[in-house]
Amino acid sequence: MADTLLEVNSVSAGTEDKPILHNVSLAVGAGETHVLMGPNGAGKSTLGHVIMGDPTYKVSSGSIAFDGQDITSLTPDKRSLAGIFLSYQAPVEVPGVPLYSFLRSISQMRPELKCTAREFRRRVGKIADELSLDQSFLMRELNVGFSGGEKKKIEMLQLLLLRPKLAILDETDSGLDVDALATVSRGIQSYRDNVGGALLIITHNTRILERLTVDRTHVMVKGHLVAEGPASLIDDIDKNGFERFEKTTAKEADAQ
Ligand SMILES: Nc1ncnc2c1ncn2[C@@H]1O[C@H](COP(=O)(O)OP(=O)(O)O)[C@@H](O)[C@H]1O
Ligand SMILES: [Mg+2]
Repeated sequence: MADTLLEVNSVSAGTEDKPILHNVSLAVGAGETHVLMGPNGAGKSTLGHVIMGDPTYKVSSGSIAFDGQDITSLTPDKRSLAGIFLSYQAPVEVPGVPLYSFLRSISQMRPELKCTAREFRRRVGKIADELSLDQSFLMRELNVGFSGGEKKKIEMLQLLLLRPKLAILDETDSGLDVDALATVSRGIQSYRDNVGGALLIITHNTRILERLTVDRTHVMVKGHLVAEGPASLIDDIDKNGFERFEKTTAKEADAQ
């Protein structure tokens, strides 16, 4: 395995009154592609948010290390600066702020991305072209009135511009038409080839994975990681569903 980039160590977490994740451990090496699958409500998005440091969730035990640093108590902005990117299932709308200005201000906050206005325009233009993104989007208010597909394309633009070390993509591909799906696939591909970062992809859609080499697959059921395996586990789940894993957790719960 490559050098460990992300290490989730026996993490239990949830909201104030609801435990959601139970003793979750997972490691992602630098540059690796991991897939996280599981039925609806399993806790996949919660895990993404916990890795990102979303204050909605409290870690009651365990720890999270990233790039050699314990990040368990870092705020989301610090985790973002450290190189973690999370694509949200529902991106926020920020009225009054054009997408272009937003992108410019977040990249100016990062020493490694600081550049002249002219160089920034060139970089954004190049990525927008690569994603076949109409440049008029860039002048619109952040996510306001964008269609689901457009929001996802813009997330890909952010991903390629910010060059994080780890990108967690939470159902980035859900509900997309063929065209938007192709753009998202191209974005992920380009992130792998040009940025060389690691991926944790939460998905139900195996089409998005077709052109990626998946290093590891994790299965989550009822807040537990119940299985881990090679890329072939994805095909197995695609054919047979999650039933056998659900039985495993039911037995575990009975035994407790
Ligand atoms: N902020 C929250 N408040 C209350 N319950 C939550 C919250 N976030 C998640 N949950 C609950 O935790 C469980 C896991 O949710 P989620 O992580 O969204 O699952 P998945 O992404 O696998 O579909 C669900 O039962 C969900 O209702
Ligand atoms: Mg989810």
